[in-house]
Amino acid sequence: MSHDLFEAARGAMAFAHAPYSKFPVGAAIRAEDGKIYTGANIENLSFPQGWCAEPTAIGQMIMGGAKKIVEIAVIAEKLPLCPPCGGCRQKIAEFADKETRIYLCDETGVKKTMTMDEMLPFSFETEVLG
Ligand code: THU
Repeated sequence: MSHDLFEAARGAMAFAHAPYSKFPVGAAIRAEDGKIYTGANIENLSFPQGWCAEPTAIGQMIMGGAKKIVEIAVIAEKLPLCPPCGGCRQKIAEFADKETRIYLCDETGVKKTMTMDEMLPFSFETEVLG
């Protein structure tokens, strides 16, 4: 992974709105258009209404006109590496391939690289729904 994606994820983390958990998370997606889309977690006083960094980045990507995640980096300052939550794995999978790389980072760089298939094995798939 080139350093720019890591830097983008780390930079995005600074925009987290996490007054309740005090657990800022940043995500950065390199999309098929070559651009980087970033996101941070955005919490809410009504706790279930908050959301993770990854869907913020996905929303940015979609509204930027891109549809495919080529690679994605995730970072949380309070964890040596931050595995995306179950819901985020499903959301990432919607716009990824089985080989898409997911980089789990700390403040210094990538600590672990996984593929989408390793991150979400035996995922929900059906031709019935298209
Ligand atoms: N969080 C993320 O942003 N991404 C994840 O994959 C795991 C959890 C956020 C949600 C919440 O704002 C905070 O981390 C603590 O759970």
